[in-house]
Amino acid sequence: MRTFRADRAGREAVAAMQLSKIGVIGAGQMGTGIAHVCSLSGYDVVLMDADKSKLPLAIDGIRANMSRQVVRGKISEETMQTAVGRIHPVDSLEGLASVDLAIEAATENEEIKRRIFVELCPHLRDDALIATNTSSISITRLAASTDRPERFMGLHFMNPVPVMALVELIRGIATDEETFTTVREFALKLGKTTANSEDFPAFIVNRILLPMINEAVYTLYEGVGSVEAIDTAMRLGANHPMGPLQLADFIGLDTCLSIMHVLYEGLADSKYRPCPLLVKYVEAGWLGRKARRGFYDYRGDVPVPTR
Ligand SMILES: NC(=O)c1ccc[n+]([C@@H]2O[C@H](COP(=O)([O-])OP(=O)(O)OC[C@H]3O[C@@H](n4cnc5c(N)ncnc54)[C@H](O)[C@@H]3O)[C@@H](O)[C@H]2O)c1
Repeated sequence: MRTFRADRAGREAVAAMQLSKIGVIGAGQMGTGIAHVCSLSGYDVVLMDADKSKLPLAIDGIRANMSRQVVRGKISEETMQTAVGRIHPVDSLEGLASVDLAIEAATENEEIKRRIFVELCPHLRDDALIATNTSSISITRLAASTDRPERFMGLHFMNPVPVMALVELIRGIATDEETFTTVREFALKLGKTTANSEDFPAFIVNRILLPMINEAVYTLYEGVGSVEAIDTAMRLGANHPMGPLQLADFIGLDTCLSIMHVLYEGLADSKYRPCPLLVKYVEAGWLGRKARRGFYDYRGDVPVPTR
């Protein structure tokens, strides 16, 4: 039975659909984190990456992260084994044919994401939902490359997914209430707190966070301070748990640059111009932690500033 209730925007709330099998596209930092929390919450997970070599690394990474939770007494060894056993790696989108919800967490590039949706849709059941973990790209535009814009929305997890409490929920222009309610209930079942954002470039968290990170890179570029000085200043002077350059390395400098491009192009304001030094690091392939080099060099025992 469905229950109806009007929300503040006058929309009628409908009951959530039951979800049991989740597809995750992209087995990078975010996709592995999403697979981790879904499997621990009892969902079967199909984890897909176009790069086959990423899949065994992803499963090993998830096992290592869950082992830390076992050591800290957060989960039992048995829970960990069951959860890891629920994750099925696949290297093609055909593997997602039976999922109830597909979560796209591939590289932050609109062309790549659009191609994934075009290829994915014919394999999905008609009633399956699609969510994207994009950090910045228009949900309405991405939805338009699917055959089901009403069953599509933004579900933006934070990094690292098992640790961070928030997910942002973003409706596209066509997202229907059943999709929104289902995805919100799903996020709550993962133990997350939700915040709703309108579909504007970079939504809420990154609209505020990324210009700060970009400004930190300008501060470095203009020689106002070294990597170490800038991070120490913001950690101790603004009480941030991580310095902005350390955080940029953690997010991935390619992702940071993509988000700045989306803000710059989407809002047409020069204050969002990506710092040339950020561009240079990305061009060098120094993408942060995932490439073992960014504003810090992670190849040794302790991170060493690169400037
Ligand atoms: N890093 C963060 O802090 C963060 C936080 C929230 C959201 N996000 C978003 O999550 C998404 C993924 O980011 P990430 O940090 O995990 O990036 P990542 O570079 O770690 O992983 C991206 C993965 O996508 C895979 N991929 C690329 N093209 C593909 C395709 N056609 N089909 C399937 N897989 C493909 C790559 O092989 C890679 O494994 C992006 O949209 C990003 O904006 C990132």
